[in-house]
Amino acid sequence: MKIAFSAPKPEAAGALVVGVLEKGRLTPSATALDEASGGALTKAVKGAPRFTGKLEQIQNMPAPTSLKADTVILVGLGNGKGIDAQKAQRLGGVIAAKLLALGVKEATVDLNGMESDSAEFAANLAAGLRLRSYRFDKYRTKQKPEDKPALKKLTVATPDQKGAKKLFDDLDRVVDGVFLTRDLVSEPPNVLYPDSFAERAKELEKLGLEIEVLDAKQMKKLGMGALLGVGQGSQHESRLVVMQWKGGKKGDAPVAFVGKGVTFDTGGISLKPGQGMWDMKWDMGGAGVVTGLMAALAGRKAKANVVGVIGLVENMPDGNAQRPGDIVTSMSGQTIEVWNTDAEGRLVLADALWYTIDRFKPKAMVDLATLTGAMIIALGEVTAGLFSNDDALSDQLMAAGRAVGEPVWRFPLADEYDRMIDSDVADMKNIAGSRSAGSIVAAQFLQRFVKDTKWAHLDIAGVTWSGKTTPLAPKGGTGFGVRLLERWVAEAHEK
Ligand code: BES
Ligand code: MN
Ligand code: ZN
Repeated sequence: MKIAFSAPKPEAAGALVVGVLEKGRLTPSATALDEASGGALTKAVKGAPRFTGKLEQIQNMPAPTSLKADTVILVGLGNGKGIDAQKAQRLGGVIAAKLLALGVKEATVDLNGMESDSAEFAANLAAGLRLRSYRFDKYRTKQKPEDKPALKKLTVATPDQKGAKKLFDDLDRVVDGVFLTRDLVSEPPNVLYPDSFAERAKELEKLGLEIEVLDAKQMKKLGMGALLGVGQGSQHESRLVVMQWKGGKKGDAPVAFVGKGVTFDTGGISLKPGQGMWDMKWDMGGAGVVTGLMAALAGRKAKANVVGVIGLVENMPDGNAQRPGDIVTSMSGQTIEVWNTDAEGRLVLADALWYTIDRFKPKAMVDLATLTGAMIIALGEVTAGLFSNDDALSDQLMAAGRAVGEPVWRFPLADEYDRMIDSDVADMKNIAGSRSAGSIVAAQFLQRFVKDTKWAHLDIAGVTWSGKTTPLAPKGGTGFGVRLLERWVAEAHEK
């Protein structure tokens, strides 16, 4: 789908989308159509009393014969004020959903003549249109024609085409990153495994990223016993991928992102029940976000030094799989008693975090992981859990999340929780042995591998996959985290 910006043009073909304010008041562009058609829009609004022009309400009507368009779509703009970037994106999403449902091929969105005439509004509207239009249908060979997306050409009418285009160019690259993340989490686990994931990451070299792939032998040499233990039952060898974007000043310490990339989590010998196990294909969601984020930052040529590190493993039961009771030595030198092979994400991250600090000495580090089922119990599919050793970093991340509509909520860390993973025979064990505070205990485990680096951990177990469609994403992989962290880099590290 191509999105272009044009001057307002009431003579557009296909579908024409115009705005309606509260109490059914027509916006200027809608009024122009209404006058050109003998009051057809006024009549349509009157004929649909439940459509009152409330923000995000939407209603279609056949276009009056005096117009070139076939369909007119009325979209509610509320009182027309205070439509910020996030609301503009959601509006775009609502409009895209309607256009896709109607199956129109071509559409023009013209919400002009209001305070929302800004380039920022038009660019964000376009970004929302695109975000909602995502599809993952490469494995569906028998789609009925009526199920296939029809929309080919989308035009956003705006008085400031140049300004809108310029802003959209960057947003468009961020949407590319979100789509890459959604693709990665949607891929089935027979297709996406550590090596094939690493190959996909390698393709990002074309964006100017430096990509290195470490194999099991190299990781063994580095002493990554925690990560390697998780993957030792799999036919697919583990990988660690390091992505570097050098858009900042030479010599400036980078910000680092670290992702859990368990391409399939059976639980290992602590095997999960069969029901719902298919969801564990997206247990690489953290790595998916880091990869999409690096693509977004490189795509828009961010003025910052950024590294992304992803630990890629498959957690399988096998004759050679790790056992409950095994003791492994992590790259940090700390030993871990593995009580539960299903608490594997923290083992992968232990080495990935340590490696990142050891090699890059980042000025701040954020990890993302579909780490605990307990997170879903606490915050559902709406909000991600935030855990951090730094108040300022936490505040920045919460603000960025609010700004883009990817909310995060902070949980506490404390010595009392940390003690719960002390082991009698090793430096620590990988679970507490009780279900209390499961997400916090997992975060405490990670904290043992970050030294005094400014660090935040996002538990995205609940938000990585959505069971239902939302304004900016069809159900499935959400890409939650890419826009949040892209915003954080822009706000905190490029200014
Ligand atoms: N990948 C899971 C967590 C998860 C569950 C993510 C459901 C998304 C949806 C993780 O590896 C895991 O199995 N965690 C265990 C930890 C427990 C053994 C302490 C859990 O949450 O049950
Ligand atoms: Mn697990
Ligand atoms: Zn897992």
